This record gives sequence, C-alpha cells and structure tokens, in this order.
Amino acid sequence: MNQTDKFDLDDLLTRLKKAAITPDAPKAVRVILEQTVSNPEAVACGMPAFAEDEAILFEDETISVWFCRFQPGNSVPPHDHQMSATIGVYLGAERNDFYENDPTNASQGSIRKSGKAELTPGEVLSIGPSAIHSVTCISEEPCCGIHVYLGKLTTVDRSLFNTETNETLEFTDENYHKLQGLNG
Ligand SMILES: [Fe+2]
Repeated sequence: MNQTDKFDLDDLLTRLKKAAITPDAPKAVRVILEQTVSNPEAVACGMPAFAEDEAILFEDETISVWFCRFQPGNSVPPHDHQMSATIGVYLGAERNDFYENDPTNASQGSIRKSGKAELTPGEVLSIGPSAIHSVTCISEEPCCGIHVYLGKLTTVDRSLFNTETNETLEFTDENYHKLQGLNG
C-alpha cells in the first residue's frame, strides 16, 4: 500500500464537513465516500478499533458521520432518517430493503417493500430524506461501513416501522430493541 492509499479519518471528516455545505451536498458526499471505500482494505486498516458497533465520528447541524458495524444475521428494523443519507461499505456485506407507503392497506402507517440493494466492500448507497429502509448483515463476517447524514441525526424526530402490526413508532432505543428481529 502506498502513501496515497492510506486512510486518514481526520482527513475524511474534514472533507465531508466541507462537502456538507456545498450546493449539491448529497452528490459531493457520495463522491468522497466512493473515493474512500474504493480501497476498502485501507479503510479497514486505518479505521480505529471501535469496541461498540456504532460510533459517532462527528456531528454538527450540517452533518453526522457514523461508523456502523452490523453483526452477521442481525437486522436493523425499518426506519427513516428525515435527511439525506449516504452509506459506504468497506467490510462484509449488507442488504438494504426499501419500503414505501402502502396505498392498498387502509391502516395508517402501513408500508410495503419496494426494492432492495446489496452492498459489498467498495460500494456506496445514497438514499433520500423520506426513504424508509431496513438493513441486514448478509456476510459471515460483520459488515462495516461509514454512514453520512446531512443533518444532526441525534436530534431529529425519526420513526421506526413495525411491518407486522403496521405501527409507526417513535425512534427510541426501547422501540428499536423491541422491533429488532421482528421484521424480516
Ligand atoms: Fe438507516
């Protein structure tokens, strides 16, 4: 690995913070993440060894950057972000299932699957502010990625969705853990 291939987290954060305040921030962030995970081994080597499966790498009013590690077989229940999100994977693999409002079901808050996207190391996914997705680790090893949200994710009102009961729930730790494993 030569010098230019080295992953520098501080440098990445500096570039992402600048990108977040450009006119087409989602595109600018995507380009940076694509460049970053195009060398997934370098990211895996250079990323700090986080004990927790989630770590907030930076957050302000314009951008939130997270390290996320999904354990094999585990799923994150359907949720929204209320802001643009870009995910770059550098280890393992994940499947994103997308959902949309279900107009054929009278229950308020009912959603149905509308598509899916599998991400392997080097791949980037961009999703819009109103998107609803669930994420499942589909590799035998944990799936690790860098997640970038264009806003302050920890302070926004977000929702979780129970696809069995058609309930829309407030995004809280309690509801998250209640739903984990319920939604396939
Ligand atoms: Fe998400």
